[in-house]
Amino acid sequence: MTIGLDDVVAAETGLSHVDGEAGRLIIAGHDLEELAGRLAYEDAVALLWRGLVPEASDPAGLLGQARARAYAHLAPLGPRLAGLTPVEGMRLLLASLLDAEEDHPSLVVGAAGVAAAMAVRGAQGLAPVAPDESSSHAADILRMMRDAPVAAEEARALDTYLVTVIDHGLNASTFTARVVASTQAGILSSVVAGLCALKGPLHGGAPGPVLDMLDAIGTLANAEPWLDDAMARGERLMGFGHRIYKVRDPRADVLKAAVGRLKGKSNRIAFAEAVEATALKVLGRRKPGRRLDTNVEFYTAILLDALGVPREGFTPLFAAGRTAGWVAHAIEQTRTGRIIRPQSRYVGAWPAEAA
Ligand code: ACO
Repeated sequence: MTIGLDDVVAAETGLSHVDGEAGRLIIAGHDLEELAGRLAYEDAVALLWRGLVPEASDPAGLLGQARARAYAHLAPLGPRLAGLTPVEGMRLLLASLLDAEEDHPSLVVGAAGVAAAMAVRGAQGLAPVAPDESSSHAADILRMMRDAPVAAEEARALDTYLVTVIDHGLNASTFTARVVASTQAGILSSVVAGLCALKGPLHGGAPGPVLDMLDAIGTLANAEPWLDDAMARGERLMGFGHRIYKVRDPRADVLKAAVGRLKGKSNRIAFAEAVEATALKVLGRRKPGRRLDTNVEFYTAILLDALGVPREGFTPLFAAGRTAGWVAHAIEQTRTGRIIRPQSRYVGAWPAEAA
């Protein structure tokens, strides 16, 4: 029995494949590098949903309409977001759609984009901004979050990010979504559950702490002693290590290249690169033979920071991108008609035998 399910195959999927030895990610039959930075998020959603969701044939129009429909439900909840973190706010907003019995795939993805933007604003005490149906999903999310115009290169960078995180095998949040879907609970419940699993720092909650780490390090001269001390205290270096990748996460390079295209938008990239190199050296020394390398969260932090997203908003944006994947997995799993129900090994006390 494997505790933590490391090598257990719990589902069959046609959505994505992670090759941890080769550092390769295949999404709907394409290498990540063929899609990210080349395809709008809407088109990546259509590709992922092909054969699963009939409405995927016109994703551009659908996500625009979906954002508008979702906003009509969600905008009245704006005042309830004050005092909540963006993840808490996004969870509240998405869960509130349950009452409206909205279980349409595109509506859920549209709602996730609106909810991410609203939750980031709400946490700052700012009122929600209405969507623009005619805009691309990425550009509209950024505009709704900022209430200011978005440059084409910024929209492209966010598109690259959303496509990069659209799906990733049976990661913890996707597994969670599939477990919920396997009970026939519905798409939206599966997505809300996925968000709850994503928020932890060992999964999608890591990119904010990556920036905290870079801030705490402060200067290049301090990088090696700081990282070494952190590891001596038994702390984990955020943005490094992965259950499946034993080499560099291919998403890290895609996002690093996207930050590079945002000329003049990040003053952190050179510093981040230097810290990354030092961290890999320290990890190799402190954990020899563990094959720890950079994961997606490291350059996620640099990219979203360069787009002006506050660090508490990183996880909601991750969730907004991943929602299309959770939806697709929920549909795939629901169709199997089989509940996911593993076993546990009992290590507690046994009742005293009757004499
Ligand atoms: N920093 C320092 N040490 C690490 C790190 C890290 N980032 N990651 C793993 N290790 C060490 C562990 O302490 C352990 O050492 P030990 O065997 O001497 O005790 C060894 O490497 C193996 O670690 P596990 O916890 O068994 O690895 P696992 O596959 O379970 O964990 C995880 C993967 C959770 C991502 C881990 O690498 C981690 O905590 N990373 C930091 C947080 C992070 O970046 N999360 C984002 C992941 S990407 C994503 O989910 C989208």
